[in-house]
Amino acid sequence: MGIIAVKGTHDVYGDEADDYRYIEEVFSSLCQVYGYKEMRTPILEYTEVFNRSTGEGSDVVRKEMYTFDDKGGRSVTMRPEFTAGIARSIVEHKLYATEDAPLKYFYVGPTFRYERPQLGRYRQFMQAGVECVGVDSARADAETIMLAVTVLKYLGFKNLVIKVNSLGDDESRKNYRTALQEYFSSRIDEMCEDCRERLRLNPMRILDCKVASDQEIAKGAPKIKDYLSETSEKRFYETLSIINDFGVDYEIDDSLVRGLDYYGEIVFEVHAVSATGQDYGALLGGGHYNGMLKAMGGPEGAGVGFAFGVERVYNLMRDNGLTMAEDKGLDVYVMPIGENMVMPSFELLTELRSCTGLTMDMPPAAGKLGSLFKKAERKHAKFAVIVGEDEVANGKVQVKNLHTQEQKEVELDDLPDVLIGEIEKFGDCHCEECESKKEGK
Ligand code: HAM
Repeated sequence: MGIIAVKGTHDVYGDEADDYRYIEEVFSSLCQVYGYKEMRTPILEYTEVFNRSTGEGSDVVRKEMYTFDDKGGRSVTMRPEFTAGIARSIVEHKLYATEDAPLKYFYVGPTFRYERPQLGRYRQFMQAGVECVGVDSARADAETIMLAVTVLKYLGFKNLVIKVNSLGDDESRKNYRTALQEYFSSRIDEMCEDCRERLRLNPMRILDCKVASDQEIAKGAPKIKDYLSETSEKRFYETLSIINDFGVDYEIDDSLVRGLDYYGEIVFEVHAVSATGQDYGALLGGGHYNGMLKAMGGPEGAGVGFAFGVERVYNLMRDNGLTMAEDKGLDVYVMPIGENMVMPSFELLTELRSCTGLTMDMPPAAGKLGSLFKKAERKHAKFAVIVGEDEVANGKVQVKNLHTQEQKEVELDDLPDVLIGEIEKFGDCHCEECESKKEGK
């Protein structure tokens, strides 16, 4: 067998890569509408960044991190998520002291978790998300949820299921942990090895256990809602009332605890049903957190954020027939007729590229007209510029609209303006192919 991609990783190319970029661009544009700036943190962080925040009790930190010693003997980890790295960066650069609160950052990039690869679950996947740090308010939490929903709606998702829960403040969670410890202690001998460790490190993580018999036991466990302090309960309903006023339909899921240790107060997940019945898992997850900056050696400072997996969003959009990158083709394909027209075509192409900004290419060699048109079709080109010896000698080329098949002779001097004009008009193309696309066939 030849060399293949590492298990759990995948190549993205061709039209699929255009679709990924479309999703990422919609996301980053909307983040900017909401006042976010981009942050790019390194893929590699010192391991303690995640141990301190993401949580020693979480599966992500305990079992799924790509951790190794670098050549200097320091333990480093390929990020399994962004939130911890963003908090590390905010503290390292003292951004909390130099920038106005809240600090609002969005990010898109590869993330690594050593999980069992399965539908919707990769070992390297793209996460896109936001962190809003330095304010502690129901309004900031609500705005973050609204952005998450807006991004997914903008991408075309209908029937989103938005699950919310509150994990309360420190006091609520302390009392809840004690209650869980009491509940699970008597049953722990029947439970998996991992759950025994979870009981010691953070009993809330038992609620994420995937083992069916453990899930049965967990069904009878106390619920966080019965341990929420008055302040947390008030805060939770205040956030819900804001998102409700802005038309976000949610359902309270009192079993939602999220898999990472840093959350407190509101947590949320968004699910969507695939038209083909596939279950890719949660599309998006997030929530409020306290103590992240402090864990990195900075001041107290709350935050709220979310992230989604670009693969999961892409897979669901594809299954549900949602429109992604519409224009996957070249504007212009330059076709040299005869080997001696290759260099003149290349010169023309180079000039047209720089003066029109249109997307264009040409074949590596001259060919028969029929085979060049086939190449143009495979590139989804809109126009062909046919460079023939006789026409060029007279300062002309043929321009063919590959959708309507209309062809005309154009003076070389007029070519840039003609092509720009034709491409501008192209949005109104009424050829059979474009009409059926518009009807979503
Ligand atoms: P998370 O729920 O662990 O949260 O991941 C967020 C999203 O990443 C998931 O909803 C899913 O779409 C995607 N995802 C997670 N694991 C995989 C995987 N193995 N393969 C494909 N996609 C995956 C976080 O990471 C938090 N940092 C989110 C957050 C930001 N909370 C506050 N701020």
